[in-house]
Amino acid sequence: MKTTQLGHLDPVFLALIDEIQSLLRYVWQTENPHTIAVSGTGTAVMEATLANTVELEDVVLICVAGYFGNHLVDMAGRYGVDVRTITKPWGQVFSLHEISRALEAHKLGTLALVHAETSTGARQPLEEMGELCHKYGILLLVDTVTSLGGIPIFLDDWGVDLAYSWSQIIVGVKKVWVVLLVHHPLL
Ligand SMILES: Cc1ncc(COP(=O)(O)O)c(C=O)c1O
Repeated sequence: MKTTQLGHLDPVFLALIDEIQSLLRYVWQTENPHTIAVSGTGTAVMEATLANTVELEDVVLICVAGYFGNHLVDMAGRYGVDVRTITKPWGQVFSLHEISRALEAHKLGTLALVHAETSTGARQPLEEMGELCHKYGILLLVDTVTSLGGIPIFLDDWGVDLAYSWSQIIVGVKKVWVVLLVHHPLL
């Protein structure tokens, strides 16, 4: 309580942000400079990611096999997005073949999914997912709230376009930092 607070433009604070960005790039295994740290909850960063990357009536396909897949559906719906879903029983993950069939069936702008579904513990494999999405000219958006810092993530190798995470669940930094990677090819 007695520590002097840092202003948001204080050079010490700016250096701290730079360091956090650089460490985030390491843990996410990306070279993308648009690795942005902000404060808030996991839901806040989910909203920040969607609000800044989708537009009214964009078609977004969301893979749902647990609570947080549904959370993404709710959030995207509030932004007026044309939300499509593919679902599986909770605890299961989607195969490349299933995703590929869904991409053929819908004319999409974005595919969104949860990397590690906190409600079930299931890890969605992401290898080749980006390559598949880019074949159809769509963006891949990934929730890494429960994977960042817990399991290896290779955003660049996997071709992930947009990702967000939150520091409290795995990294264990309390109630402060949310990390948002705006890994958008158009930026
Ligand atoms: C995978 C995932 N996404 C999003 C969230 C939302 O985070 P919050 O509860 O901080 O709003 C959580 C929270 O547990 C989560 O596990």
